[in-house]
Amino acid sequence: MERLVTSSLKLGIIAGGQLGKMLIQEASKWDIITYVLDNDENCPARSIASKYVKGNHLNFDDVYNFGKLVDVLTFEIESVNTDALKKLKSEGFKIYPDPDILELIQDKGLQKAFYKKNGLPTSEFRLYESIEEILAGINSGQISFPFVQKLRKGGYDGRGVAVINTEDDLPGLLPGPSVIEEKVDIAKEISVITARNSKGNVKCYPVVEMLFDPKANLVDKLICPSSVTVEQSENAIGIAGEIIELLNMTGLLAVEFFIDSKGEVIVNEMAPRPHNSGHHTIESIITSQFEQHLRAILNLPLGSTKIKLPSVMINILGAEGHDGPVMYEGLTESMAIEGVKIHLYGKKITKPYRKMGHATVMSSTLDCALQKADKVKNLIKVKSWKESQ
Ligand SMILES: Nc1ncnc2c1ncn2[C@@H]1O[C@H](COP(=O)(O)OP(=O)(O)OP(=O)(O)O)[C@@H](O)[C@H]1O
Ligand SMILES: [Mg+2]
Repeated sequence: MERLVTSSLKLGIIAGGQLGKMLIQEASKWDIITYVLDNDENCPARSIASKYVKGNHLNFDDVYNFGKLVDVLTFEIESVNTDALKKLKSEGFKIYPDPDILELIQDKGLQKAFYKKNGLPTSEFRLYESIEEILAGINSGQISFPFVQKLRKGGYDGRGVAVINTEDDLPGLLPGPSVIEEKVDIAKEISVITARNSKGNVKCYPVVEMLFDPKANLVDKLICPSSVTVEQSENAIGIAGEIIELLNMTGLLAVEFFIDSKGEVIVNEMAPRPHNSGHHTIESIITSQFEQHLRAILNLPLGSTKIKLPSVMINILGAEGHDGPVMYEGLTESMAIEGVKIHLYGKKITKPYRKMGHATVMSSTLDCALQKADKVKNLIKVKSWKESQ
């Protein structure tokens, strides 16, 4: 009997957001028992997990005790108590990706040092402990405008990032240990998701291009295939593959890049987990990122990353001015468009720009998928029924 893919394998997932939910959707195809740890009893993954455990991903005891319940432990967010993971590892528990890699990635300062040490292209940077130190750095000429400040820890979805163009933006500096990096003159933002199993097999997904909503600083549309040149694509895929090898990592790694105005490919940051820029893979690539993550951490052969159809992914975000119990508009009309696939995460409360779901739009050409995606974007509205009554 194979133990890995049977109903006797318990997979633990730390945090039960939408990434955890979509991971469970794939795991259930192989009859894997899924445990999820989350403090929020209404978290998206709870409704489909085999077992829900209430607990905080940053609390040592909660993470440690949760890890002891399962055969293989993984996570869907970066902010996890790594001391608990390291203790579990020292006791022989299987944790993928490795807690040491997570610890490196949790800290944007360590990440930048890793890129630099390994000769990978990334923007110039320096580390600072506080706003006072940053201001002193500006006064002494060590830092010049424009620059980007990133909190070393805890940022996500653009929170924890401040773009400082001129002195007028200085009140927007964030308190806490930070990376100050050169502001890149960005022409494009792309990402490459790569996976490695513990046999050392590596597979990369095709480059995806992210188009941002400037107001929310969130991904607005994601297109695959991207419009980058063959050389840029090969370069980015090569770097992503190199990083996962250098880390000796088991699991899924998303690497975000900038392409600057000179056409250079520059590493921005990475995430050791399924990623927002990989949602289209569920329908438009032979193997979804979630299945690939499972294949990687269960040491199974990695699946094909070939494109089935060109696709555009849009995040379904909470509308501005709506905060409360959620209500959706335009779903039926969107589903009537050929090639539109809707995913709702099951969050009960909407907030402005909260990620409530996503839609993947596929067509035989990317142009056609883009047109349909614009229609879907205009049709779907995420409101709160309390305020709209
Ligand atoms: N050095 C830079 N120069 C110019 N723009 C930058 C730079 N660093 C970040 N940005 C902009 O800020 C965005 C968010 O930065 P980053 O990806 O590092 O933060 P994050 O909070 O981890 O984001 P997310 O969770 O959305 O991936 C980038 O996608 C990019 O648009
Ligand atoms: Mg990012």
